[in-house]
Amino acid sequence: MDTLNEVTEKKEAKKKSCLQPAPKVLVSCRGLDGKNNVLAVGYCGNCSYDPPMVMVGIVPSRYSYKLIKESGCFVVNLVDRRYKDTFDYLGSHSKRDGDKLAKMNVKLQDGKKVNAPILPDCPVNIECTVVDSIVTGSHEMFIGKVEYVHADAGIADADGNIDFSQINFL
Ligand SMILES: Cc1cc2nc3c(=O)[nH]c(=O)nc-3n(C[C@H](O)[C@H](O)[C@H](O)COP(=O)(O)O)c2cc1C
Repeated sequence: MDTLNEVTEKKEAKKKSCLQPAPKVLVSCRGLDGKNNVLAVGYCGNCSYDPPMVMVGIVPSRYSYKLIKESGCFVVNLVDRRYKDTFDYLGSHSKRDGDKLAKMNVKLQDGKKVNAPILPDCPVNIECTVVDSIVTGSHEMFIGKVEYVHADAGIADADGNIDFSQINFL
């Protein structure tokens, strides 16, 4: 049995983003003008399994913020290591400054249930409708009801269970 007598020394550390590891997802969205955008998001998580819901935290200054606000939907795309360069670019460039999707040759497909694009090069795409949002501070947390989940055929079984161990997450 482990002994509790060996005490690790502790000291106070920074509070900001102290919950780690953080997911690294790409959130895709579409404005009412039909223009698409994608940004990198680390403030993201499951927040209900019945009904299935996920949340994403978006800083209001992001170009994508207005698109999600006005459309009421978004897609969470899980990212494989092979997509790292694209993830990094989309997370460090704003659509405000140019067409970053064209620059990185990002493939898009229409969602099945929501009016936002999915990224077919990502292994899992989670289509969501915004049912609520909470301004927590720096971020507005958008609560998304999961409307449809796409998974690469090779990683999902006949019942739709995803084998997440086959994804090399960033
Ligand atoms: C690893 C990583 C995590 C990020 N997490 C978030 C996040 O949770 N929320 C957010 O609003 N921006 C986040 N960003 C920053 C946006 O992706 C970045 O500002 C992007 O350029 C915004 O694009 P847009 O202005 O076209 O919407 C993150 C960036 C990186 C690299």
